[in-house]
Amino acid sequence: MPSMQADLDHAATTPPRPEVLEVLQRWVGAANASARHLPGQAARHAVEHAREQAAAALGCGPHDVIFTSGGTEADNLALKGIVWAERARRGGAPVHLVTTSIEHSAVLEPARWLAARGDVELDVVPPRPDGVVEVDDVLARVRDGSDGRAPTVLVSVMGANNELGSVNDVATLGAALRVRGVALHVDAVQCVATHDVSLEAWSADALAVSAHKIGGPQGVGVAVLRRGLAVDPLSHGGGQDRGVRSGTFAVGLIAACGLALERAVEERDALHARLTGLSQRLATGLANVEGVRRSGPTDAAQRLVSHVHVMVDGVDAEALALGLDAAGIAASAGSACSSGASTGSHVVDACGLAGAPLRFSLGWTSTEADVDHAVAVLTDLIPRLRDGGDVFGFTAVAGVS
Ligand SMILES: Cc1ncc(COP(=O)(O)O)c(C=O)c1O
Repeated sequence: MPSMQADLDHAATTPPRPEVLEVLQRWVGAANASARHLPGQAARHAVEHAREQAAAALGCGPHDVIFTSGGTEADNLALKGIVWAERARRGGAPVHLVTTSIEHSAVLEPARWLAARGDVELDVVPPRPDGVVEVDDVLARVRDGSDGRAPTVLVSVMGANNELGSVNDVATLGAALRVRGVALHVDAVQCVATHDVSLEAWSADALAVSAHKIGGPQGVGVAVLRRGLAVDPLSHGGGQDRGVRSGTFAVGLIAACGLALERAVEERDALHARLTGLSQRLATGLANVEGVRRSGPTDAAQRLVSHVHVMVDGVDAEALALGLDAAGIAASAGSACSSGASTGSHVVDACGLAGAPLRFSLGWTSTEADVDHAVAVLTDLIPRLRDGGDVFGFTAVAGVS
């Protein structure tokens, strides 16, 4: 094992905060929060406290908060639930859904699945080459139904992209959609640590967030679904959480998620300031390595401070990932959620970028030492890979990815 380990893959998952683990441990064996006895009431209190913490963090009311198993379920619930309810309300008439080609698969796959079943007509908006989605490009696809085509009932645009870290102007989009009477879902999974997230301020109707991206445990997240918005459940059962998400409350996970959200907001400004410095240090170091080009927006206001995404010329993406791993650096070649499948990245393809993609993502445990280690390793590794040399026991093949 390499002597130094650097976790620069926080966008994939973030180490849990100690105080969040304590809360998880305290409540993991709780009574059923729907039971009437005292232990049940105590568990219910923990759930409702977490709901209030989530609401305060996400600019909505407690009644808008639905706890899920994570970002994937929250995205699926918003897309399928809203589309199915709207279709039913319109007597089964066709409806139209708009999303973007750089969404996480937790949005793109349900959208495509709904389209394949004939539940929606689907429009997928491409981003700019820097990964930002233009509000006008989205609005141009929105249909009011007056020309006889299926009307748009839902638009789903991510707050920030998990690979490039490009930030979308969802507040402007939300305001424009509100006027048109079209619902907006925002996958805000990558935004919470460093950006304000608000159902209210964004004029959104649904949000998806995930605890394990912000120092919480894996397997829990929040679907914010504006009360009054019709949403069909994905599963039917005991009717918990407004009947939208049945199942015994996972009290420990929910309590931990509430605290993780509260901490994320409390520490957001300080983290933003710290990561601004660290990501600049990383980007500056990488800029000195030949053939490494930073991707994503050049305007810092349109970029998450947690992400540094680069394209590397003349090296094999897999070899690069292996070399980093061997040097003790956790980063992501392509999309972390799909690494293991060496199919490349739909985001990189949508932006028309060439080379081997490499994402560094920083978070609450990141240090200058992590960043300096990554720069030192890449400065040594990239020229060696480019030469096609036998590095760390394998032979790099340039240009294959
Ligand atoms: C933008 C985005 N949406 C959704 C998800 C899925 O979240 P979860 O892992 O909680 O299911 C991820 C995870 O990487 C993500 O980055």
